[in-house]
Formats: sequence, C-alpha cells, structure tokens
Amino acid sequence: MQRPRPRHVALVPAAGSGNRMQSGRPKQYLEVLGRPLIRHALETLCAAPDIDRVYVVLSVGDQEWDSHDWSDLAPRLVSLFCGGASRADSVLNGLRAIRDEMADSDWVLVHDAARPCLAPWHLERLLSLSDDEVGGLLAVPVADTLKRDDGHGHSVETVARERLWQAQTPQMFRYIMLRRALERARGVTDEASAIEAAGLRPRLVEGDASNLKVTYPLDLHMAEWILANRAR
Ligand code: CTP
Ligand code: MG
Repeated sequence: MQRPRPRHVALVPAAGSGNRMQSGRPKQYLEVLGRPLIRHALETLCAAPDIDRVYVVLSVGDQEWDSHDWSDLAPRLVSLFCGGASRADSVLNGLRAIRDEMADSDWVLVHDAARPCLAPWHLERLLSLSDDEVGGLLAVPVADTLKRDDGHGHSVETVARERLWQAQTPQMFRYIMLRRALERARGVTDEASAIEAAGLRPRLVEGDASNLKVTYPLDLHMAEWILANRAR
C-alpha cells in the first residue's frame, strides 16, 4: 500500500516580548507597511500551495492577537495560546498542542514571527528538501571576517569563516523527530541545534540576507525597505 504523502505545516513562534526592540510592545505587532509585522510572513505561508496549515504560537496572556482581523487567512491559519518561557519552549508547546493532527512523518516548518521578509522563493528552496530523511534550514554563508574579543573590547583572534553559516528560518524537520529532539535538548536557540544534538545533520539550504530577523530598531526599517522594494 502506498503511504500517504507527508503533509507540510508551518509553526510560527510569536510568544516573545521583543525586549531588544525597546518599543514597550511585542515586536510582532509593530507596524510594517501599515500591517502588523507578523502578518507579512503569515500571508506568505498561508499563500504557499504546499503548506496545509499555519499554526501561530502566542503567549498565554497575549492581549493583541484577537484585536486584529485574520479572517482572510482562515481556515489555514490557527492560533495556539501556549507560548513558553523561551523560543524552544514555545515551539515544543506548539508541537505538543497539535499532536493529534500530525503524522510522525509530516514536515513542520518552524518560522520566526520576527522574519517578515520571507518570500515564496525561500520556501520553494526549502521545500525542495521534502525527499530528504532529516530536513534542514535556510542559511547564509558568513561573508564578513569574524573576530573573537577578549571580553574587554579588544580582538584576540580572527575566526576563519570557511564553512560558517548564519542560520535563518524556516527550519523544516519531521514532526516526531523534531518533537523528540526538542524534548531532549532544552535551551537551544533553533530547531537545527536540537536535531544536531540528536546526532543528525540538517541540510543547509542557501537563502539570502533579505530574510532578516527583526531584532533591533534599525532592522525594522530595513525590513520595511525590503518589502516595499520587492517586486511582488
Ligand atoms: N519567541 C517565542 N517565545 C519566546 C521567545 C521568543 O515564541 N518565549 C519567538 C519570538 O516571538 C520571535 C522568535 O521566537 O518570533 C525569535 O525570537 P527573538 O527574535 O529573540 O524575539 P523576542 O524573544 O521577542 O525578542 P527579544 O529576545 O529581544 O526579547
Ligand atoms: Mg528572544
């Protein structure tokens, strides 16, 4: 008997408080081109033909999500109010919340709410991994010369940038593999580290710098510029 095609779902952790933005408000709701920052990536994910469902993980006490109109993204978009203390906890809580809807071999694409410039071509590149056993992540080879400091602002070492990549999201792994890896490797800052800790090797899929994470105030301006200047 032929096995059913594994599904692809997106899981978007959006339960952070955006402290480094210093805006006094979670950054996922800051306005970017007239819309909440998080809406840009959600629209791209919900419009992707190969993504069946998009789950957003919000903090338990989220005050803002329900004040926006998301009806145009229904029924693909589903909100889960189960965020945790760290990003990894939010992702794991989300994976647990959807367990009844997932087959072990289904793919989960975890994408930061804070990366609004996700484009269809980024997704296409990552989805080309669907025949892979392990999965992988979007990433960009490091371009700059890297320095290690002495803890007091002086350079002590130049770190060779060969074979170094900057990890981005989405990161795409099989549902059960990812859940088990995150259950064991607590405190990781991305899914790929949990998979690596399980002894597996996520594939690095070359993306580009336009898929930046909004962390500091300047990033918000750069994201807005990228979205405004991108041919849609
Ligand atoms: N995130 C989450 N749950 C947490 C912390 C972070 O779902 N407990 C999410 C954020 O909402 C964001 C993504 O993980 O979409 C990446 O995290 P980061 O850029 O660090 O966002 P914040 O934690 O909100 O920002 P900061 O670290 O500056 O407070
Ligand atoms: Mg954070």
